[in-house]
Amino acid sequence: SAVYRLQYAPPAFWIDAVELTFDLDPAKTRVLNKMRVRRNPEVAAQALRLDGEELQLARVQVNGAGTSFKIEEDQLVLENLPEGSEPFDLEIFTTCAPEKNTQLSGLYVSNATFFTQCEAQGFRRITYFLDRPDVMASFSVLLRADKARYPVLLSNGNLVESGELADGRHFARWVDPHKKPCYLFALVAGKLVAREQQITSRAGKEHLLQVWVRPGDLGKTEHAMNSLMAAIAWDETRFGLSLDLERFMIVATSDFNMGAMENKGLNVFNTKYVLASPATATDQDFANIEGVVGHEYFHNWTGNRVTCRDWFQLSLKEGLTVFRDQEFSQDMAGSASARATRRIEDVRVLRSAQFPEDAGPMAHPVRPDSYVEINNFYTVTVYEKGAEVVRMQRTLVGGHEGFARGMKLYFERHDGHAVTCDDFAQAMADANPASPLAQHLEAFKRWYSQAGTPRVKAAGHYDADARTYTLTLMQSCPPTPGQPDKLPFVIPLTLGLVGEDGAALPLQLAGEAAAGETQRTLVLHEASQTFTFEGVAQRPVPSLLRSFSAPVILECDYSDAELLTLLAHDADPFNRWEAGQRLLLRVALSSIADSAEQAGATAINGHIPEDIVDALRAVLADPQLDPAFKELVLTLPSEVYIAEQLDEVDPQQVHAAREALRLQLATALQAQWRSAWEQHQDSGAYRPDAASSGRRALAGLALSMLCLAARSSGDTVWPGKAYQRFKIAANMTERLNALGALIVSDHELARPALERFHERFRDDALVLDKWFALQAARPDRGGNVLPAVQALMQHPDFNLKNPNRARSLVFSYCSANPGAFHRRDGAGYAFWAEQVLALDAFNPQVAARLARALDRWKRLAEPYREAARAAIERVAAAPKLSNDVRELVTHALAD
Ligand code: ARG
Ligand code: ZN
Repeated sequence: SAVYRLQYAPPAFWIDAVELTFDLDPAKTRVLNKMRVRRNPEVAAQALRLDGEELQLARVQVNGAGTSFKIEEDQLVLENLPEGSEPFDLEIFTTCAPEKNTQLSGLYVSNATFFTQCEAQGFRRITYFLDRPDVMASFSVLLRADKARYPVLLSNGNLVESGELADGRHFARWVDPHKKPCYLFALVAGKLVAREQQITSRAGKEHLLQVWVRPGDLGKTEHAMNSLMAAIAWDETRFGLSLDLERFMIVATSDFNMGAMENKGLNVFNTKYVLASPATATDQDFANIEGVVGHEYFHNWTGNRVTCRDWFQLSLKEGLTVFRDQEFSQDMAGSASARATRRIEDVRVLRSAQFPEDAGPMAHPVRPDSYVEINNFYTVTVYEKGAEVVRMQRTLVGGHEGFARGMKLYFERHDGHAVTCDDFAQAMADANPASPLAQHLEAFKRWYSQAGTPRVKAAGHYDADARTYTLTLMQSCPPTPGQPDKLPFVIPLTLGLVGEDGAALPLQLAGEAAAGETQRTLVLHEASQTFTFEGVAQRPVPSLLRSFSAPVILECDYSDAELLTLLAHDADPFNRWEAGQRLLLRVALSSIADSAEQAGATAINGHIPEDIVDALRAVLADPQLDPAFKELVLTLPSEVYIAEQLDEVDPQQVHAAREALRLQLATALQAQWRSAWEQHQDSGAYRPDAASSGRRALAGLALSMLCLAARSSGDTVWPGKAYQRFKIAANMTERLNALGALIVSDHELARPALERFHERFRDDALVLDKWFALQAARPDRGGNVLPAVQALMQHPDFNLKNPNRARSLVFSYCSANPGAFHRRDGAGYAFWAEQVLALDAFNPQVAARLARALDRWKRLAEPYREAARAAIERVAAAPKLSNDVRELVTHALAD
């Protein structure tokens, strides 16, 4: 039963206020829900239909008296309510069983602590309600529980009252000063401790910040608290948005379906995005914590103060908030080069996860038109592509200032309301009436409504006599499910022209006065457009789509020599990196084509031409370049990204081709890897900043390349060094890099290292996750990874019910290790089917994520495709399947 965006209707009733009383008990929690309800005068009189799921209903009263009601599927239907527009009291008493809630949606128990997760539709698993984001109520929450077992009782807003009750119980009353939709409700109760921080905002207000964790984890909360303070300051300076609460709390739980949740004043986080210490968390973990803490905090305005009218508008808050957290992380990174590095990393995610989604059976617009299960639409398209759509709007209103004007108008118009993606774009355009965004608004909004990744084909012509350069840009977008034909997109295309000598050439369009700019943004809005630049003194190499100014696939017939020019000289670091990636991708694709001709041969020699190897050597040895940037340039395009370029994919060929190129780079650049390793050894206290992480990243890549090269030459020095480093490493990043180097080179020391690692970190769940993940993602030798994964599933530390642990082993194998997962015998897919079904029996959301691992099965070559189809059909044929998984396999099998 699908829901359609165009069928949106405003609610027939409003719930202005709600008073909830919880008697918390893992086996049977009692929930008294008193609502102040009134009819929506703008909607025809009708029955009140409240959503509820897996609730035991005990009593319903209207204005203090019994009333008639009926239950229809998952709704409580009340037909005989008072007429007229006066508010009335509706009281509902239900119970639920948190300890049996394995879905982790609604109220559940983790480590003897109560948590809630209500977005998108978990509140209905707590009590009957109008569980939709456009119904906003004032919440007052009374929590009662056994004091010894649940000493800490938290909910949204301000603590107004607390005290003792009989029988060792106690209570706390929380009142949220802001109206909110129920998906932002939260409660937490258990044995927790907090790191606290008092801050004064720019506006001079005092706030209490708290990060709540289990008692042993307090030492790992400093970075999260620092990130929170930085995020608060950033939103004030950058957008003038201040914290609107006396108290802001973050609570960590080790059982969580997603990353984190922005409940008003009470964010609930996966421990993975809170806990960090140098000894247990990597640089990536530290950066993720900063990003996610920022993300959830920024939701306080973009999501909570202004929320979504309906779930089709999810990107209104998610795309915008991802954009904001990406900008925050860039600002935190500091230097221009460090910002570019973060941009490259974000684009890599977009292209290796969102582009495939947009080309597969689950392709959907940033603002979807229909869904069966909304949880399936918390996607890279809604989040990451949505962020790009916001970024393009900033570009089209001329940058920071225009964007800040748009945000200001957006809040002036919509603060306290539940609105749509159209409302956001309209505010941006109205605040910048002379901008290209305002001029092309209707066409621009196709980014919200049309799925698929547009392709832009660029062709340039240089006329040396006339000193003109003519650039023709043509756009198209392939069909996606339900959308056979697409209209042109509005594409901001930032470009520069680079002379063969590396000079940045001025960009002056025909008929314009010379302004001397060497970079500008063209706005492409027709299927084909031609631009002529004048006064071009030498044959240029076009540097197109700088900073990845639009989420498109850019096709341009560059020669290798032109790409080498860009790699060496482009003023735009993104395009420098991109030029290197294009060169390497080209080599990878041609070796795949060669091996395909040799009838299934997969043992390929790397054949990166000498001049490309030299150029990469020059990058690696360049003292002017940032280590972080070098690490990105020297990392080959991912297997997924390579596979996306092919019409038919033999994953083993892709894997073998990439491995061969890696080995070639490892061997050919040995001397430079050695100096990179030696030059980037930091001593002194660990710091997670961008510059230090960049040094560790390059040193880590160097070490793994040196071990890889050693593997083919039989040298034992580097594996020995790696093992030594593994043992004495000063922080988790170095330790894991050293261990990873032993594992990717398949060295015999990997085994004792893994054992030591387990021994040392056996009591730290997040580190054990890494231990499982490393083994699931290790290189396959004769099909040995699958049996190893199956054996690890029997390990006493493994637990499929814990989402982090399931992800670390099962997802790592199925999604992060294509060379081991795509087996000719199909056993990887059979394992996938088994695990999807096993997970679906108790946690459909997590099962549905895993189900996506075979999205792109139709492009697989035989024998993979048949085996994948059989596995998906096996899942589809299961007698009991959640809506979540059913929706996905239905899409996957549709033609
Ligand atoms: N709003 C949360 C975030 O982006 C994600 C919550 C998603 N939860 C879910 N069950 N789909 O930060
Ligand atoms: Zn979010």
